[in-house]
Amino acid sequence: MGRAFVYVILGGGVAAGYAALEFARRGGYSRGELCIISEEASQEAADLILMATHHIRLNGVLLRYTKITSMQKQNQCCFGLKRHISALRFCYFDTCFASYNFFLYSCQVAPYERPALSKGYLLPEGAARLPGFHTCVGANDELLTTKWYKEQGIELVLGTKVMSADVRRKTLLTGTGETISYKTLIIATGARALKLQEFGIQGSDASNICYLRDIDDADKLVNAMKSCPGGNAVVIGGGYIGMECAAALVTNKIRVTMVFPEKHCMGRLFTPKIAEYYENYYTSKGVTFVKGTVLTSFEKDTTGKVTAVILKDGRHLPADMVVVGIGIRANTSLFEGQLVMSMENSGIKVNGQLQTSDSSVYAVGDVAAFPIKLFDGDIRRLEHVDSARRTARHAVASILEPSKTRDIDYLPFFYSRVFTLSWQFYGDNVGEVVHFGDFTSSSPRFGAYWVNKGRIAGAFLEGGSRDEYEAISVVVRRKAKVANMAELEKQGLGFAIQE
Ligand code: FDA
Ligand code: NAD
Repeated sequence: MGRAFVYVILGGGVAAGYAALEFARRGGYSRGELCIISEEASQEAADLILMATHHIRLNGVLLRYTKITSMQKQNQCCFGLKRHISALRFCYFDTCFASYNFFLYSCQVAPYERPALSKGYLLPEGAARLPGFHTCVGANDELLTTKWYKEQGIELVLGTKVMSADVRRKTLLTGTGETISYKTLIIATGARALKLQEFGIQGSDASNICYLRDIDDADKLVNAMKSCPGGNAVVIGGGYIGMECAAALVTNKIRVTMVFPEKHCMGRLFTPKIAEYYENYYTSKGVTFVKGTVLTSFEKDTTGKVTAVILKDGRHLPADMVVVGIGIRANTSLFEGQLVMSMENSGIKVNGQLQTSDSSVYAVGDVAAFPIKLFDGDIRRLEHVDSARRTARHAVASILEPSKTRDIDYLPFFYSRVFTLSWQFYGDNVGEVVHFGDFTSSSPRFGAYWVNKGRIAGAFLEGGSRDEYEAISVVVRRKAKVANMAELEKQGLGFAIQE
C-alpha cells in the first residue's frame, strides 16, 4: 500500500503551514503532488462516530449498507438515521439486521500558530480556539483552514505518525503501514517537550502534571486550571514556557510558585538586571520564586494526583497542579545515521538553501541547524516561530527556484508577551551589555545592547513602539559601530533611533 508525491512536508506545525502557503503562492506544483504528513490530533475536538451497518436481503440478494455519522453534530445524526431507516421501509426485504458501533475519532489538526497555546488559548475569557489561529494568521497573512488546503490541491495526511524514513529510497513509512514516497522532502518535525522522567523523576505522568507543546497539552492545562480555581500551581522551569504559563495561571486566579535551578529567570537570554524587573513584576502579581534548586519527587493522593512537589532542599510545595517547561529536543531521530547532524546544536545540519546532506531533503524550523550570515556563518538551531516561518518559506523558494534563490540571511528574532508586558530581542546575546531606559515603572520602556568587538551584536527592548522595535533590529542587522560604551548608555534607545 502506498502513495507517491513530488513534494512531501513531514510535520504539520508552524513551518509546514508557511511552506504550504509559499508553495501555493509560487504555484510550483500540480494538484495532488504536494502533501503534509502530521501526527497531530486533538482529543478535545474528538468526535464520537456512529457506524451503522445494515444487512438486508432484498429480493434474495444480501446487501450491506454502512452509514457513518458524527455524534457531535447530533441533529445531523438523527436526521441521517431517520432518513436512512425510512428509506429502508420502501424496500421489500425478508431479512434485516443491523449492527451499531461507536468509536472515538480523534480530530485531526491542520497547521496552527503554536505560540497561541501559551497566550490566547489560556485566557479565562475570550480564549483563542481553532480554526481562529491556523497558520498563517500569526504573520498577518491568510488563515489556512482544511478547506484552503483542499482548494489548493494540497493533500493533508493528518493524525498520521511517520515511523521510519529511508532517505536513499525516498520513502516514509507511516504508523498505518502506508509507504509514502517523495521526490523532494521538507523535514519540519519540530521538537518535543523534555519530560521529567528523562531526569529520573518518578511519578511524573500524573493527571495534574501538564506540559505544553501541542493542542492536546493545552487542553489538559485548561482543564487542570478549571479543576482548581483559587488553588496552587507549581511551575517547573524558568524559561519561556515557565514564564508565559505562570502569567496565564495568575490571570486565571491560580497561585503560582516557580521553581528553577538558575539564579534568575530566562537564563538563556536575560541579563540579571532584565530578569530582576520581570521577577519583581511577577512577584507583584502574586508569583513566588524558588531559585537555585530542582524538584526531586512528588507527593500524591490515593487517586494518583499530585498534592505536593518536593524540592532538593527538602521543601514541600502544595500543588493542585504542576506545569513543566524544562526545554525541548528537536525531532531528528528518523534521520539520524542518514543525514549529517549538527552535534553542537542537536539538529539536522543544512546549508544556506536549507538543504541537508542529501540534496533531495530540506529541513526547516526547530529541527534545522542553519548558517547565520550575520554571525559569520555560525550554525544555529533556533527554537522560535519567526525562524520557523522564514526558513520554511526560504526552503520552498530554494526548491522551486534554486538558481534565483540566494542563501538565507536571517536576523534572529525572539519575543514574548505576558500580562501587559511585551518585549522583542534581535541578534545574539554575546559581548558586553549596556542597559538603558526606565526599569522602575509598571508600564516600562527599557532595554539593553550587547556589544561584541566594538559593534552591536544584540538588542532587547521592553515596551517599545513598532518604530522603536524596527530601529533596534536595524542597528543589529547593520552591526552598528560603538565608539564609546558610556555614550551608548547615555543615548540608550536614541542610539538606535538616530542611526
Ligand atoms: P512545530 O513543533 O510547530 O511542528 C512540528 C510538527 O511535526 C508537529 O505537528 C508534530 O506533530 C509533527 N511531527 C513530528 N514528528 C512527526 C512524525 N514522526 N510524523 C508526523 N508528524 C510529526 N516562538 C516565538 O518566537 N514566540 C512565541 O511566543 C512562542 N510561543 C510558543 C508557545 C508554545 C506553547 C510553544 C510550544 C512554542 C512557542 N514558540 C514561540 C516556539 C515556536 O512555536 C516554534 O519555534 C515553532 O512552532 C517551530 O515550528 P516547527 O514547524 O519547526 O515545529
Ligand atoms: P527553555 O529552554 O526556555 O527553558 C527551560 C527551563 O527549564 C530553564 O529555566 C531551565 O533551567 C529549566 N530546567 C531545565 N532542567 C530542569 C530541571 N530538571 N528542573 C527544573 N528546571 C529545569 O524551554 P521551555 O521554557 O520548556 O520552552 C520550550 C520551547 O518552547 C523552547 O523552544 C522555547 O523557545 C519555546 N517557546 C518559546 C516562546 C517564545 O519565544 N515566546 C514561548 C513559549 C515557548
